[in-house]
Amino acid sequence: MKFEEIKKVGILGGGIMGGGIAQTYAVAGYDVVVRDINQEAIDKTRYAVFDGKWGIKRGVERGKLAFDDALVAMSRVSFGEQLSVLADCDIVIEAIPEKLELKQQVFAELDGVVKPGAIFASNTSGFVIAEVGRDVSAARKPLFVGMHFSNPVTTMRMLEVIYTPETSQDTIDAAVKLGEAGGKAVSMVKDAPGTYGFLLNRIFGAAYREAKAIVDAGIATPEDVDKAMITGRNWPSAFFGSRGGIGKEW
Ligand SMILES: NC(=O)c1ccc[n+]([C@@H]2O[C@H](COP(=O)([O-])OP(=O)(O)OC[C@H]3O[C@@H](n4cnc5c(N)ncnc54)[C@H](O)[C@@H]3O)[C@@H](O)[C@H]2O)c1
Repeated sequence: MKFEEIKKVGILGGGIMGGGIAQTYAVAGYDVVVRDINQEAIDKTRYAVFDGKWGIKRGVERGKLAFDDALVAMSRVSFGEQLSVLADCDIVIEAIPEKLELKQQVFAELDGVVKPGAIFASNTSGFVIAEVGRDVSAARKPLFVGMHFSNPVTTMRMLEVIYTPETSQDTIDAAVKLGEAGGKAVSMVKDAPGTYGFLLNRIFGAAYREAKAIVDAGIATPEDVDKAMITGRNWPSAFFGSRGGIGKEW
């Protein structure tokens, strides 16, 4: 599957990330179908995408989107409970809970349902991508890739594209270009067995562990750690959410 052939984006799992990815690609001009497991979850995602604080309608109010464009974008999104709603998608982006066995099982099931040639992408926060795609068929392995978005997807530009030794160059190129089509700044990451967190979460995790060690040793308070990181390194949310007692102007 080449990037130019991608017209329909499937999302496996609504929720926080799936809803944001669905909205991003509907606004970017793609047909989008979201599969979740029950009506309640679907209703929640539909509300977030259409009416929520960062949803499409609020985009019109905030002057980010023309009214007509918003109507078209909303008409592009559909929802369903059956895996079969994803059958004719050109790419399926998975955003179900962060449980490795669940992801492996659902991807294996999906492999028999979605058309041959479609790309499978996982938005896992950090599982080894080859492990997530372990149980898909040999034909699907070159089409398996990681696409790790950041929350909230509609506003955060970061996207890690993670490739395994088996991911084809066409798949990598398609994931990168699709990321860019959704307004993302793409960082390439090589799948690294034995690790968790790709690039962003590994670096943040290391810094967080150090910040916590400093606080636990009584060297500085959470407020002072946050204050230093916000004012000295421009890390807007720092670590402990205290904002260091300083105002939003920082
Ligand atoms: N929330 C974040 O900040 C964030 C950021 C980056 C990546 N991630 C990753 O994205 C993934 C989803 O996280 P989230 O925060 O959006 O979770 P969430 O709980 O908000 O959403 C998960 C959705 O998946 C649905 N689901 C469960 N099993 C399913 C199945 N078999 N088929 C289809 N849908 C199913 C649930 O009903 C739910 O709506 C996780 O792997 C997480 O690590 C999360």
